[in-house]
Amino acid sequence: SYQPTPDDRFTFGLWTVGWRGNDPFGDATRPVLDPVESVNRLSELGAYGVTFHDNDLIPFDATEAERDAIVKRFKGALETTGMKVPMATTNLFTHPVFKDGAFTANDRDVRRYALRKTIRNIDLAVELGAETYVAWGGREGAESGGAKDVRDALDRMKEAFDLLADYVTEQGYDLKFAIEPKPNEPRGDILLPTVGHALAFIERLERPELFGVNPEVGHEQMAGLNFPHGIAQALWSGKLFHIDLNGQNGIKYDQDLRFGAGDTRAAFWLVDLLERAGWDGPRHFDFKPPRTEDISGVWASAAGCMRNYLILKDRAAAFRADPEVAEALRAARLDELAQPTLNPGETPAALLADVSAFEEFDVNAAAERGMAFEALDQLAMDHLLGVR
Ligand code: GCO
Ligand code: MN
Ligand code: MN
Ligand code: MN
Repeated sequence: SYQPTPDDRFTFGLWTVGWRGNDPFGDATRPVLDPVESVNRLSELGAYGVTFHDNDLIPFDATEAERDAIVKRFKGALETTGMKVPMATTNLFTHPVFKDGAFTANDRDVRRYALRKTIRNIDLAVELGAETYVAWGGREGAESGGAKDVRDALDRMKEAFDLLADYVTEQGYDLKFAIEPKPNEPRGDILLPTVGHALAFIERLERPELFGVNPEVGHEQMAGLNFPHGIAQALWSGKLFHIDLNGQNGIKYDQDLRFGAGDTRAAFWLVDLLERAGWDGPRHFDFKPPRTEDISGVWASAAGCMRNYLILKDRAAAFRADPEVAEALRAARLDELAQPTLNPGETPAALLADVSAFEEFDVNAAAERGMAFEALDQLAMDHLLGVR
């Protein structure tokens, strides 16, 4: 059991298992991993597909002929394994040209180049069957106040996304964009730092229906936020277009731990939410196998992501099926939260005329009612820890 199959729709970025372990203080600890090897190994482990940045597959300086050969070979591996590519994205952060950003770089020629680089990979993404295009603006930001006029930068960001939306519409592509927020790293402060910022930004675009969010567990937690709450709001808004699953221990550098590590309780509530909401998109892992690991540790880490998701899915289902939990949920009055606050058709005047709502409302009696949340949470804890 807890053996993943393609039906579970687990996907991995090529850059995750392919990360060589280089960090700001140390060199790579692992050799280059061939993307075809990643496709094969991940398929053997039970994954559904892979995702990629243009340069995870095609080196930045590849010639046209090299590019064609690489794509052909990659397609061959996909065909042999049956692995899918539901999402792709652009590397707009590694090359030094992007040191001040891409869509919001102060240099106009860099911005135009970034748009061209993105469009080029959108064409490839569609060719490979992707339905979602992720945009993570890791270099869109600043280290100091005078360096970036943020209102102008947001105008440029909007300009970029409006152009890309026009492009996919004109081409007749069935492709939607998922904006990935992150508060900082590699920039001191990154634009669109949280799910909330991104959701508000999307509503200012010319084709908002083509845009949603790609929240990453650790990124919201780096900002001290409750990830399941952010996902709930994205779902509520109809804007959860993709998700990056990983693990993070609180407010510190981006750890990109395997899913389930870090804040396991948040991971439990996340899986509970996704499964109850009927999330039918890929369960995409964006993690980094720690640089202590050799290649067998990389595959152990990848397998652990999927295994932890399946364990948490099992634990969450057991929690929801437990009659004592059903009783505890009633005691905590979740059913009452699901009821509208107003009667059908009730107007402000009708509310004002209801003396039971105010004049005769027993405030002190209501204040004395306990919410019974601790008993409920302990049941969740018992299920999560596997003692029920
Ligand atoms: C991070 C980000 C990146 C992006 C990915 C897509 O950990 O900072 O998650 O990994 O998701 O590069 O562009
Ligand atoms: Mn991350
Ligand atoms: Mn990510
Ligand atoms: Mn990452």
